[in-house]
Amino acid sequence: MKLTNKTALITGGARGIGLGFAQAYAREGASVVLADIDIERATRATEAIGPAASAKKLDVTDLAAIETVAAEVDREFGGIDILINNAAIFDMAPITDITEASYERIFGINLKGPLFMMKAVANLMIARGRGGKIINMASQAGRRGEALAMLYCASKAAIISATQSAALALVKHGINVNAIAPGVVDGEHWDDVDAHFARWQGLKPGEKKEQVAKAVPIGRFARPEDIAGLAVFLASSDSDYILAQTYNVDGGNWMS
Ligand SMILES: NC(=O)c1ccc[n+]([C@@H]2O[C@H](COP(=O)([O-])OP(=O)(O)OC[C@H]3O[C@@H](n4cnc5c(N)ncnc54)[C@H](O)[C@@H]3O)[C@@H](O)[C@H]2O)c1
Repeated sequence: MKLTNKTALITGGARGIGLGFAQAYAREGASVVLADIDIERATRATEAIGPAASAKKLDVTDLAAIETVAAEVDREFGGIDILINNAAIFDMAPITDITEASYERIFGINLKGPLFMMKAVANLMIARGRGGKIINMASQAGRRGEALAMLYCASKAAIISATQSAALALVKHGINVNAIAPGVVDGEHWDDVDAHFARWQGLKPGEKKEQVAKAVPIGRFARPEDIAGLAVFLASSDSDYILAQTYNVDGGNWMS
């Protein structure tokens, strides 16, 4: 077990990739706190994981709530060892059709939230003086342009950049900051992406997912458990010499 006696705070942990990480971390001996805007779903998820899991309601765009929840977890668990900045949303429009509301929502949840989560949790980790691990969820979308997803791509490119700067600032405190860039992971997030493509490209529901699955060199979408191995590694002492990196876990998708 690689994460015995560790406490992990996972934003957006109620479903999808964050939930997959929580399950993997609990199997490795960690206590996991699912911090999600959807507290009912997060609570149901903790029941499925077992006694190692608990849930907190958190909207990552609410900076006061970030401070409160981070301090609560720090106090209740005797410190936060691992932060996963996982909560994010997707929206779709070409540059000619973007709206201020979509911009505010994407950058509020996908960038502002992770930045101020890092601030709050890093300060708590520094105060405890025993280092820690921070993992930010980027995306292949942060490594390239996508005609219909400029705002999402830009938010994920910013996460890759923020990971580098935060890592350089926090290394002296024994805190490793890294990021993971998945390719395409099946679940409700991609059901939503598929629906956007149906609208903008006149496709049938499910058609974009079929096209995308065929285009991935490995031949299929990822499942959350395909990504979780790297998340365990980056949270464990095996990765102590690694910082400021963003790793692709994408079945070869970005390379192709
Ligand atoms: N699914 C993919 O194909 C894919 C690919 C690359 C990167 N990613 C990234 O991985 C991460 C997880 O993706 P997923 O597919 O599990 O997404 P998902 O949409 O299934 O889950 C996102 C979770 O975040 C929560 N959330 C949304 N807004 C919130 C807020 N304001 N405050 C707190 N929680 C909030 C939701 O309730 C949900 O539980 C995201 O950062 C996403 O951008 C996903």
